Amino acid sequence: MSTHLGAAPGQIAPTVLLPGDPLRARWIAETFLDDAVLHSEVRGMLGFTGTWRGLPVSVQGSGMGQPSMAIYVHELFSAYDVQQVVRVGSCGALTERVAVRDVVIASGACTDSSMNRLRFHGLDYAPVADFGLLRAAYDAAQRRDDVTAHVGLVFSGDTFYNPRPELTEPMVAHGVLAVEMEASALYTLAAAHGRRALAVCTVSDHVVTGEETTAEEREQTFSAMVEIALEAALG
Ligand code: HPA
Repeated sequence: MSTHLGAAPGQIAPTVLLPGDPLRARWIAETFLDDAVLHSEVRGMLGFTGTWRGLPVSVQGSGMGQPSMAIYVHELFSAYDVQQVVRVGSCGALTERVAVRDVVIASGACTDSSMNRLRFHGLDYAPVADFGLLRAAYDAAQRRDDVTAHVGLVFSGDTFYNPRPELTEPMVAHGVLAVEMEASALYTLAAAHGRRALAVCTVSDHVVTGEETTAEEREQTFSAMVEIALEAALG
């Protein structure tokens, strides 16, 4: 057991899918995995391990935002020897080049978080995805005709209800596609531990047009994204 995960050593697979929502973790385990077993429910942050096409895989809720996610990912890397983490989440589109229901595969992540500023003593580190996972996810997305996938930068914001949304405008002018809340710290932690990480996000809402997806549409595109994540990590 580690501080925030109840699993015994060996109960978590080397590959972990990481949704923010613990109930999404249960849904992924029940929908996509065989023989899934609950291994952690500390603070209700559910984690399961099962198999996909006969290969071991875990799915772990991370909570929302970089501080919460970083607690779970730190423990997955340091206490359970996890080798690769693929975040499966949602994001808000920041440009009309991206539409709701599209999938954004984050090649790198900008942030307003102080986590990296503290880690790098005020210098700007550029957190990037693992290239092998990124390429495999893009290839898996290209093989499907039910999703449009974009590869590019995301902005990992610390504030969902941002009182100064105009502050991200220069980011958008420099190619940032979407806003979410975890990728930057995830990529940094993977680099610190010498592990692989990728964030794949479905576009649940459009910050420019105000369009939102229905619950049913969210479930459909979320399914496609989970399959893309599993193929990228294990296919
Ligand atoms: N902001 C941050 N995270 C998000 C958003 C958003 O608009 N939409 C989905 N995840």
